[in-house]
Amino acid sequence: MHSLMIVDSNDTELMAIQRAFEQTCSVITMNNGKSALGRLNKSTVMPDLMIIDLEVVGISAFEMMGRIKGNDKMKDISIVIISGDKESSTELEAYRLGASDFIHKPVNVTLLKKRVELQLEVLGYKKQVQSHVNQLQQNVNFHAQNSLRLEYFLIGIITDLISVKDGFTGMHSVSVSKYMGIILRDMMMSGINYGIAPEDYELILLAAQLHDMGKIGVPDSVLRKEGKYTDEEFRQMKNHTIYASNAIEKYAYLLPNNKFIVYTYQMARYHHERFDGNGYPDGLSGQNIPFLARVLAVADVYDALTAKRSYKQATTHEQAYNIISQGAGIQFDPQVVSAFQRAQADIFETAKQMMAQTMQMQAQQAQQSDMHQRMVQKSRQMDRANSGKVI
Ligand SMILES: [Fe+2]
Ligand SMILES: [Fe+2]
Repeated sequence: MHSLMIVDSNDTELMAIQRAFEQTCSVITMNNGKSALGRLNKSTVMPDLMIIDLEVVGISAFEMMGRIKGNDKMKDISIVIISGDKESSTELEAYRLGASDFIHKPVNVTLLKKRVELQLEVLGYKKQVQSHVNQLQQNVNFHAQNSLRLEYFLIGIITDLISVKDGFTGMHSVSVSKYMGIILRDMMMSGINYGIAPEDYELILLAAQLHDMGKIGVPDSVLRKEGKYTDEEFRQMKNHTIYASNAIEKYAYLLPNNKFIVYTYQMARYHHERFDGNGYPDGLSGQNIPFLARVLAVADVYDALTAKRSYKQATTHEQAYNIISQGAGIQFDPQVVSAFQRAQADIFETAKQMMAQTMQMQAQQAQQSDMHQRMVQKSRQMDRANSGKVI
C-alpha cells in the first residue's frame, strides 16, 4: 500500500482529499506546512507522495519543496501541487522546484485521484527499475571481487611454485616486490614516473612478484646448483626471462591492452638487462629498457645479495648499498640508484622484517617436517606390530 501525506490548511479540502485516498493508501494529514516538514524531519519512513496546497500556512510551499528536494532522506518523495493560482509562471516554478504534477483549484477530487494514481504508478516502475539496477550492481561487484580473488589465487600459486622449484624459503618474490615498492614510491614522488599512473602502483607490485616465473622452466640441476655455472648452465638459467615472456605472449590475446599483462611482461623479460647494454636476453641499454624493469633490477639484486642461502652468507645492507651504488650507470639506471640511496633506511627496515618472517617460516617448516617424520615412524611401528596378526 502506498503512503500519502496531504498538506492543506483548508480543513474541508483536506478532509475531502483524505476521503478520496483512505481506502487505497495510508494517509497522513497536516494542516500546517512547518509542522509537516517537522514531522518528515523526525520520521525515518518517508511517504511515497505528498499533495501540497500552494497556499498552505506556516511556511511557503515553494520553500518547503526546496527543503524536501535538497534533503537526501526526502528527495525521492513525489510532490503534487494544488493551487488557486492560475499564473503559468507559478506552475513553471513548481515544476522547476521538483513537482511531479500541478492541479488547479477548485479541486475535482476524482481528477486529483486519477492524476495521483498515475504518479504512484510511475513511482512503482521507478522502484522496479532501481531494484533491477541494484541487483545488477550486486552481480557486477560479486564478479569483480571474484576475478580479483582469482588473480591473487593464481599469483600466489605461481610464486609458491617458483619457491618450491628454486629451493628458497619462498620470500624472494615478495621481498623484491616490497623493495621495488619503496624505490618506485620515492621516484614517483620525485616526479620520475615515465607515464606510470599512481593508481597502477599496487598492480605493478603484484606483477613484480611474477618476475622470476620463468624459472619453472629451468632444470633443477641448474636452478639449485650451488657453485659457479658453466657457460651452458648459464645459458639455461638466462632462459627464464624468455620462458616467462613467451608464455605471456601466448596468452595475452585473451586480455588485449591489459596493464597487468603489460607490466608483468616488461618486468619478467627485461629485469636482467643492464644499463650498459651487457645484460640479457636482448642486450637493451639505457632508457630502451622498460622503466619498471630498471627499477626491479635494483630491488632484485638487493634481495639476491642480502638474502641468506644454503650456499652463501648474506651480504650486509652496507655492502649491498655499496655494490648497488657502484653499479650506477653500469648495471643500473643512475636515477633508480639515487632513489634506492634516498630510500635505503626504509629498505633496510623492510629487509629486517622479511628476514624475521623467513626465520619464522623456516622454524614452522622444520616443525612440520619433524611432526611428519614422527608420524611416519609411528605408522611403521604399528605396521610391524600388526604384521603377524590374523584378522
Ligand atoms: Fe630473474
Ligand atoms: Fe629475481
